Amino acid sequence: MAGIYVHIPFCKSKCRYCDFTSFPDKLNLAESYVACVCREMSKRSPAAEGVNFDTLYIGGGTPSVIDKTYIGMIIAAAKKYYNLSPSAEITIEMNPGTVDESKISFYKKCGVNRFSVGLQSAIDSQLADLGRCHTLNSFVYCAKLLKGENFNADVMIGLKNQTAEDVQNTIKVAHAFGASHISMYALTPEDGTPIYTDYLNGELPDGDEVAAMYAAGLSCLESLGYRRYEVSNFCKEGKESRHNLNYWHRGEYLGFGVSASSFFKGVRFTNTFDLDEYFKCILSDNFAVIDAQKPEGEDAREEFIMLALRTADGVCLQDYKSCFGSDFLTDYAAVIKKLSHCLEVGENRVRIRPEYLFVQNSIIVEFFA
Ligand SMILES: C[S@@+](CC[C@H](N)C(=O)[O-])C[C@H]1O[C@@H](n2cnc3c(N)ncnc32)[C@H](O)[C@@H]1O
Ligand code: SF4
Repeated sequence: MAGIYVHIPFCKSKCRYCDFTSFPDKLNLAESYVACVCREMSKRSPAAEGVNFDTLYIGGGTPSVIDKTYIGMIIAAAKKYYNLSPSAEITIEMNPGTVDESKISFYKKCGVNRFSVGLQSAIDSQLADLGRCHTLNSFVYCAKLLKGENFNADVMIGLKNQTAEDVQNTIKVAHAFGASHISMYALTPEDGTPIYTDYLNGELPDGDEVAAMYAAGLSCLESLGYRRYEVSNFCKEGKESRHNLNYWHRGEYLGFGVSASSFFKGVRFTNTFDLDEYFKCILSDNFAVIDAQKPEGEDAREEFIMLALRTADGVCLQDYKSCFGSDFLTDYAAVIKKLSHCLEVGENRVRIRPEYLFVQNSIIVEFFA
């Protein structure tokens, strides 16, 4: 089974921390952009003949900021050009400041069955510091419209003036309003974004403080019945994001739109990050790929391990053997021995012990040292 990702690079405004490919001032291009995405989908489709797709993820940027009928066009194109299962998981990302009732009911009519909402914090002063275009009330309004739906709330930790208690209160709000899934991301102060200056000025919490926030968030999530299945992702039973699980299992996916990446038939490729260039390529009947690589041998192994160790289940020994024809425990015997205090070796799995999952990056690098 494979996934489809569609990138919508438009936002109502630019958040102070965000370095995703998203533009706050180009909404007038949405119609022609969506036409290009549909054209790209059509052009790529012969390569995917015979492949079954099980997930469609419309992300961004802010898909909910564009006219709702464009979302309908994207879903229709995915169904027309690809073998998208009737039971596919179809997710749309939404910023609470861009949502209304008619959009949500239209998305549902088009087949959307999973929603992902950027809450970030339940404290309005923190939302303002982040440059978010909404307040807590906007989230509450949105969550009420999603009552009974399968929806995720994004929460951020490591914010200016944030306490561990604030993190827990934010999680409690997401839970109280029915989120079936919560992603808890540690703020990355990306160079070039306005928030990077806050970081340089020492205004953001340090590593130990962020670790304490993560621990507080984790215990709150677990006490409310959310199971951690990846370092930043928690859900009620059976509500894992199938689309993201496919990434971590090194499954195939096709990405459409500016900056979208793909992993298909063993090749990783990425579209241009330049919106004008994307239009130029697609309108001249070319693809918009700027980079393509086929990870083989050691590179493929590293990808597999890096992705799997982020998940709570870790590396499946049988999957490793069927992918690479050798035994994980033998290939990495020395490092597994060295890291025995933070790894759990089971009958068919090697995983990072739960208490070390937050520092998985420093563990994973040991495998490639
Ligand atoms: C594409 S956005 C979600 C939808 C919508 N654009 C929004 O922000 O509400 C994806 C998520 O990535 C997270 N994110 C973006 N930039 C980040 C950063 N620099 N550090 C940590 N998390 C970040 C935010 O939690 C955000 O909700
Ligand atoms: S709304 Fe989402 S994608 Fe847009 S700037 Fe903010 S975080 Fe980035």
